Amino acid sequence: MCGIVGYVGDRDAAPIIVDALVRLEYRGYDSAGVATIHEGKLYVAKDAGKLTEGGEPTELQRKLRSLPGKIGIGHTRWATHGDPNEVNAHPHVDCEERIAVVHNGIIENFMELREELESKGHRFVSDTDTEVVPHLIEEGMKEGKSFFEAFVEAVRKLEGSYAVAAICVDEPDVILAARKESPLVVGLGDGENFLASDIPAILPETNRVIPIDDGEIVVVRKEEVKILDANTLEDVTGSKEVQVVEEDPHKLERGGYPHFMLKEIHEQPEAVAKTLTLERERLFEMAEELVKGDYSRLCIVACGTSYHAGLGGKYATEMIARFPVDVQIASEFRYVTKNLVDEDTLVLAISQSGETADTLAAVREAKERGATTIALTNVVGSTITREVDHVIYTHAGFEKAVAATKTYTAQLAALYLLAVELGRHMGEITDSEAEEYLRELESVPEKLERILSWEMERELAVMGGRYKERPNWFFIGRGPGYPTAMEGALKLKEITYQHAEAYPAGELKHGPLALIEEGVPVVAVVQPGGVYEKMLANVEEVKARGATVISVADESDDIVEEHSDHVIRVPSITEEFSPIVYTVPLQVLAYYMSVARGIDPDYPRNLAKSVTVE
Ligand code: F6R
Repeated sequence: MCGIVGYVGDRDAAPIIVDALVRLEYRGYDSAGVATIHEGKLYVAKDAGKLTEGGEPTELQRKLRSLPGKIGIGHTRWATHGDPNEVNAHPHVDCEERIAVVHNGIIENFMELREELESKGHRFVSDTDTEVVPHLIEEGMKEGKSFFEAFVEAVRKLEGSYAVAAICVDEPDVILAARKESPLVVGLGDGENFLASDIPAILPETNRVIPIDDGEIVVVRKEEVKILDANTLEDVTGSKEVQVVEEDPHKLERGGYPHFMLKEIHEQPEAVAKTLTLERERLFEMAEELVKGDYSRLCIVACGTSYHAGLGGKYATEMIARFPVDVQIASEFRYVTKNLVDEDTLVLAISQSGETADTLAAVREAKERGATTIALTNVVGSTITREVDHVIYTHAGFEKAVAATKTYTAQLAALYLLAVELGRHMGEITDSEAEEYLRELESVPEKLERILSWEMERELAVMGGRYKERPNWFFIGRGPGYPTAMEGALKLKEITYQHAEAYPAGELKHGPLALIEEGVPVVAVVQPGGVYEKMLANVEEVKARGATVISVADESDDIVEEHSDHVIRVPSITEEFSPIVYTVPLQVLAYYMSVARGIDPDYPRNLAKSVTVE
């Protein structure tokens, strides 16, 4: 979604804000803007467009950088209300251009507020919901309130979700901000302070951060940060923990790779290895607790790629631990399936960002019904970690590209550890079988290194270029091959804009086979194991109808070749864990096809990294 930033200190604010916005661009990139205060005057620059193109600063970025002043706020937008254009870009200002506001989220009652303000003579210029905020503050100040009092009153009138920040020329040394259901952190510097939607935006400036909670107001000055309860205005600063973030800020750069996505694809061996090592003990304990807790069901809730990881976890848990797992899309769960949840249910919410609105809502619904909740997330201090009973982390490091890659394989690693330990504690597998599974998991990073070899990458790049104009793709799989097919199709559609559908291969005859004709690409996930023969039959079925078949298969498979136009060979892995290996070449294929189609895979159109609205 949108990203917001604030700075107050002794340095020029605009360049610091713009650099942070560039780091935040994964949250939204259809427009951007900055407002600063200098010598009693408000400066605002904004427009549609991105801040960087092909790694180079754009004209818009240069314009925003040039604003004068030591205090300011900035915004990178993912449009919800109003087209992405200059007028709708943030910051928004009041009638007198004395107050500027940036906002992430959706103000649900903005129409009523706008009508009321218009009837009092306020002039609106944009189609956004955000514009009501500077006018509400202006109205309060006209009634004699201070900037702070007017801001608090404005915030209390807002319904919906927001992380909002404001500056005003009448008080040129303070940024006021508030949060409800949209992420916001304060960064602490020496003689300067920062605000941002996410920690990585300000990490090169400071690693001391305070995550802001819902219902809090923040007053940021260069020498002081105060956090207040928005209802009571009680000062709660003393109760907030200052987190020291250990992540290396250099890892936030592209490090010689042309795109963040390719860099993150290559970071998968490390992400998986770290997750397997650092989370092992925690997952073992958790498995023990789960077995003791005697839960009747495990329900996984997630969206998008995290949902596919959940499906991968389901297959492994059901195959290894023989424990039933229900995987639900969070936006469906929160309205329908929630009614089946009770104290006997264990709800595992998977969200790399820990901020996805639907997943958070699903967790809240589950808690209300008495379920025990666990989060599997990549972001320390994210909202989800503060709402659940237990947290498991993936140790993938910050993921910037919109398309999830390393967090997906790290999620699978954690879910597989849990599956093995559950199996052991439930007596479904012996200790030596468990050890065998664990050895298999430990071999995954090295297998991923092999897939990411230069030769393999080149082969996939050639394939991506060759098939880049094929508009309709099918991905098929059975058993654990099915989540692989789903994730492969999602990667392809989100970054190449070609249509791709995933099907359990057994479903082909029930409809989609009608769409297979000469030259339609079908990616078949043909892992060895219980469904191998059946998959070969499905491959044959589509081949006979003219499909171009690209199979992903075990390196020792010498049968599948006869049935396929291309075979992507991957190192051997037990069927239960196959998604963690088989998905990786499909990420690489989608990446190279995206580049061949002239698309920037890091910033696919219409998407944003962290979906903080419903
Ligand atoms: C796809 C992708 C999305 C996310 C989804 C959930 O590449 O990244 O589908 O997986 O928006 O996000 P998280 O995991 O942050 O809850």
